[in-house]
Amino acid sequence: MPRASNNSYWTKSRITHITDSQWGDTGKGKLVDLAAQHASVVIKTNGGANAGHTVQNEFGTFKLHLIPSGFANPQALCIVGTGCVVDPVEFEKEYRDIKERVLSPAQFLISDKAHLVMPWHKVLDALREASRGKGAIGTTGRGIGPAYADRALRRGFRAGDMLKKSFIKDFALELEAQERLITWLKKELGEKYRESIFDNTMLIAEMKKTREILFPLIGNSYQAVQAAIDKKRIIVGEAGQGALLDLDLGGYPFVTSSHPGIIGFMISTGLKPSQVDRVIGSTKAYITRVGNGPLPTELLDMTGERLREVGHEYGATTGRPRRTGWFDVVATAYGCQVAGITEIALTKLDVLDRFETLKVCIGYEVNGKKYSRVIDSDPAWMEKAVPVYKEVSGWQEDTSAIRIFSDLPKRAKDYIHLLEKLVGVPIKVVSVGPEREATFYH
Ligand code: IMP
Repeated sequence: MPRASNNSYWTKSRITHITDSQWGDTGKGKLVDLAAQHASVVIKTNGGANAGHTVQNEFGTFKLHLIPSGFANPQALCIVGTGCVVDPVEFEKEYRDIKERVLSPAQFLISDKAHLVMPWHKVLDALREASRGKGAIGTTGRGIGPAYADRALRRGFRAGDMLKKSFIKDFALELEAQERLITWLKKELGEKYRESIFDNTMLIAEMKKTREILFPLIGNSYQAVQAAIDKKRIIVGEAGQGALLDLDLGGYPFVTSSHPGIIGFMISTGLKPSQVDRVIGSTKAYITRVGNGPLPTELLDMTGERLREVGHEYGATTGRPRRTGWFDVVATAYGCQVAGITEIALTKLDVLDRFETLKVCIGYEVNGKKYSRVIDSDPAWMEKAVPVYKEVSGWQEDTSAIRIFSDLPKRAKDYIHLLEKLVGVPIKVVSVGPEREATFYH
């Protein structure tokens, strides 16, 4: 029987990864926040300051990018995992805010193997986007791609490098080298040539201060995870972005540079896939995307605008309006498959409360052929997809105060059951508002 409040849902598995089955921004921050109340370890598994979420708790409202959820649980260890890219200055700002406002915050650990996002990565991100013209990815501009590129080139700085005595000297030298490269690139791009693009003195002083503060937080996250495993503690993975933005399995190049699904969890924890009890896929009751790339069910009309306004669909990191559309079974099922999702948490159901009719995309027509599943995540294939819709009646009742599944209007239950059946993954959690209480279990 479904229940209104169900702590047992969050404690019944020891190792859970929470990710997103779509293009990000499905509200997984709230789910991780709920899970983190019961966890000993919360580990951010991928991405960096490109992700953003707002957490509301007894200490106020926090706008976070890098700090894992669970920061207000004094029993928790919040880890920034090996597969993440950390902007140290940004992290320090968020960390300071938490130390000032939370009575007894969690412990924090930054994996010594996580790569650092440096000032030049952000400049390079912007320049690459400018050079792509119409083919721009629409990145968040947070230096994510260039930082991951340096990681793959094996020339990046890792958090562990901050512990070295020579770090500030190495940073200053690299700053000069990057300045030369960027100045050359700018000339190539025809932008106005400027002798100095960085305020080196300021950046070096800032990095010195940041290093002092972060120094005690940097360490071996593999050992910390293993220790929690030995003690049979609850471990929660917190993904950034969404399965359809996976570097390899998403629609390349309109993707991020990391792995939001189970693969990202493995990289950041060093655990075996068989050790993971479940992967929860945060899934919005409709669809959104920020940035460029195919979105087959996109609504460019008043209905899309209505979804955006009712759902407050503006990027948490960049403030960009999100593209909106009807629920896409085909894309979501693919996201669940490639991210290893075993159960779904359906979010923002209340946003659909006032719609007279709803459409659910149950298939794509590509070059005259019908498909019920993605056969190729390549944007060239997805671009051609014409959605095949099933129309259902809306429930036209306020669900935001509902706290038990059985209290939902029949049509809302039918909608949930329809999505569950078509996607082929059980929906175990339903969210009808941003508050922790606006969550129930099925
Ligand atoms: P990047 O991760 O900043 O390089 O951006 C690459 C693509 O991923 C762009 O389409 C971004 O809009 C998208 N993206 C990055 N982070 C997020 C996120 O947290 N939510 C949703 N989309 C994101």
